Parts: sequence; C-alpha cells; structure tokens
Amino acid sequence: MHTFGPKDLERMATNAGAVQVHTASEEFTAAMFGWPVRTFEATVPPGRLGWNWAKFAFGGWKALSWVDANVWRHVAPKGWFYNVMVTGSTLLSSVSSGLAFSTDDVRYLRSESGAVALAAVADFGLTDATRVADVAAARARFGDRAPVLVETTLLRRRAAAKLEQLCPDFQASNWLFTDEALQQATAAPVARHRARRLAAASLPLVHDATCSIGTELAALRGWGVRALGSDIDPVRLAMARNNLGSTAELCRADALRPVTRDAVVVVDPGRRRGGRRRLRPDDYQPGLAQLLDSYRDRYLVVKCSPE
Ligand SMILES: C[S@@+](CC[C@H](N)C(=O)[O-])C[C@H]1O[C@@H](n2cnc3c(N)ncnc32)[C@H](O)[C@@H]1O
Repeated sequence: MHTFGPKDLERMATNAGAVQVHTASEEFTAAMFGWPVRTFEATVPPGRLGWNWAKFAFGGWKALSWVDANVWRHVAPKGWFYNVMVTGSTLLSSVSSGLAFSTDDVRYLRSESGAVALAAVADFGLTDATRVADVAAARARFGDRAPVLVETTLLRRRAAAKLEQLCPDFQASNWLFTDEALQQATAAPVARHRARRLAAASLPLVHDATCSIGTELAALRGWGVRALGSDIDPVRLAMARNNLGSTAELCRADALRPVTRDAVVVVDPGRRRGGRRRLRPDDYQPGLAQLLDSYRDRYLVVKCSPE
C-alpha cells in the first residue's frame, strides 16, 4: 500500500544528509476503520448522515488510534501502518550544539584519506541552494564519514572570520573544531590581546587549564610565550593536537586538580551547554568558586561573563 516504506524513508533522509534519523508510524486499525467510513461518506449526499454519524466516525477513529498507539505500535511492524513520519537533524549546526565528534573521527580527519576527503568536500558550495545535493554527493563518496567531513568544512568556513590572524601561521582550513568548541573559542582579537599582556610579563610558563581546541595556546605561542594546555575532554584535546602540531605541550587533566606548580594559570570555564548560556558562576564548567579555590596561591587569569 505504501509508496515508500519506513526503511526507504529512513534511507532517503540519510542519503539527503540527515543524521539521527527515526521513523514513527500511526493508524493501523484506525485506518482499516477509516477507509470504509470515508468510502461510505463519499457515496452519501453531504449533510445527510447527521451528528450521530459524525460522533461515531470520529469517536471510532480516535478510540482505534489510541489502541494503535498503545498496543499495535509495540507488536506490529511499522510497515503495516497507514502513516509514517520521518524525523532527523540536518548537518547544519546553527540550531544546536552540532554533531558529536569522537576521537576516532578526529583520527580519521587527521589521516591521509581524511585529508583527501576534506579537500574534496571543501570544493563543495554547501550553500542553502546546493546543500542537499552536496551532502548527498558527499554521502555517496565518503559513506558514513560524510557528516564529519561536511561539518568540519562548514565549521572551518565559520572559523576563518572568528579566528582570523589568531597567530602568524593560523589557517582555519587546517584546524579541527566541534560546533560548541568554535562557539566557545575566544575570538582572535581577545586571545591576541591577552597573549600580548602575558608575553609582556615575561613569564616562564603559562598553563591554559581549559584549553579546548587550543585557541588561546595558539595566540600565546604566537607571542612567543611557552604555554602548556590541558582539558578534560579527550576529543577537544585530540583536535588541539591537530591544530597546534606535534610540539605542543598538551595533557588531559581536570582543571580542579592542578598539574603544574609555578605556571601562571589561564582558565576559561565553559559557560554554555547544549547551546544554552549559563550565567551563574557556580554553573560554569568547572565552577568558578572551585577554580579560585584550587588555584588560590597562584596567579590566575579567568575569562568569565560580567556580573
Ligand atoms: C569555554 S571552553 C574553553 C575555550 C578556549 N579558551 C578557547 O578559546 O578555545 C571550556 C573548556 O573547559 C573544559 N572543561 C570543562 N570542565 C573541565 C574540567 N573540570 N577540567 C578541565 N577542563 C574542563 C571543556 O572541555 C572546554 O573545552
């Protein structure tokens, strides 16, 4: 009976570039009831069947829809139902905190084949007009890797403006990001300004204890400051390794358990989660009071929102 079965729809949505695709179906017995009712209604002149018939038709459909949703949906295959709804997310990250990357994704993006694929996807327009076709083409060529390739390409384009001239050798087209990490990244003029002030203090070592993908570290290194980075998130650290190169000093650590002794510490706690801002310092990740406590005997530079 169906033009497209649920599996076909899921496949089509996936091929068009959607992720986290799901189908849900409705109306099984309600549809069996609805067809003869509607057929009969179509044969009778309008208005002849009256209010009691309308109540019977609507009440019957509603009762059977309830049975379908609460009983048949759990036991009958989706393809037996009359309606199927398909949902998924686009690869556009503008409305959410974006695609979740894994360390395996980062490994792939840094590999030779990943670099070749990224170069190919970078040539796609990915404009509103071409995006569906471009994503379908990426999916056809690169299969399951297409989402991270397209997302990385779009993020690199956004980063080019935000991080322009972050440091002398900065090139957004070589960097890796997650959508949230890019949103959280300190804009280049601010990172450069802070790095210049820290450079002027001639410090032996600066420790960025929430270094994320390495934005502040890149600015510090650009000003000739020796800087070590740590973060709790292994994916962001893997991206920072890519962004800063093999000589960068990076380690995974909880900022609340200091791993350096004499360095000046820079912290920029997370003030967003799932795309939403957190305004109370206690809700920062890590919390501001705990950070101040952990580094109470140290010079500490904190980036936070105004009170
Ligand atoms: C706002 S981002 C830092 C952005 C960075 N300054 C930049 O410009 O790219 C906050 C970072 O803190 C990290 N983070 C959260 N809790 C942490 C903790 N307890 N220890 C270390 N890092 C943590 C997150 O993984 C995230 O990368």
